[in-house]
Amino acid sequence: MNKIILALDEPLDYKILKDISSQVAGIKIGWPLILEQGLEGIKNILKNFDNNIIFDLKLADIDSTMIKITTHLKNLGDSFIVHAFVGYNESIRELKEFLDKENKKMYLVSSMSHKGWNDNFYPYIKEVIKMTNPYGLVAPATRPKILKTVKKDFPEKIIISPGIGAQGAKIGDALCNGANYEIIGRSIYNSKDPIGTILEFQKIQEERLNEC
Ligand code: XMP
Repeated sequence: MNKIILALDEPLDYKILKDISSQVAGIKIGWPLILEQGLEGIKNILKNFDNNIIFDLKLADIDSTMIKITTHLKNLGDSFIVHAFVGYNESIRELKEFLDKENKKMYLVSSMSHKGWNDNFYPYIKEVIKMTNPYGLVAPATRPKILKTVKKDFPEKIIISPGIGAQGAKIGDALCNGANYEIIGRSIYNSKDPIGTILEFQKIQEERLNEC
């Protein structure tokens, strides 16, 4: 199995999706597809996938609101991406307790892939991650330095990494810098042959991993 998590922010043909499901390590669903398809549409899409379904809602709210949101989606997926900056007490702590009880996983955002993100407050985020002890972390392929730091600080955590292709990082960059999986969206779903593209990316990942 390759180390690609498909970020499906736009719909793909059902036939292609069915074939893709066995070719990727997971699928990430976020607001664009949820708002476009509605929950019924999302259910239909996810029928093709049986595990590693990650909901990327970038949750950042008080505990009760985040618990309400995840309650609507907990039967459809495995994991939720949550912003660490909201802090622990009366927010992430209670959500983590809820997700643990429901056997769902939490990924905390440790840093982001876009230019405007500021890693000066990583020391604070690091403390929230330590307190939370989430299943995994999101760290950017576009910022090798912080990705390596996050890996060094939390070597046992599963790191999933966006920023490849459209945002500038190359396939395999994140894997070489400590990520377990690369999150890839537009470069796959906008390509003429999404499955061929996935297979090509898998080959590049394997070559890069042999080199680094
Ligand atoms: P593209 O099309 O750029 O899609 O390959 C990337 C996907 O990942 C999301 N994204 C992030 N999620 N932290 C996150 O938790 C980040 O730093 C980050 N950067 C991009 C993006 O919304 C899209 O779904």
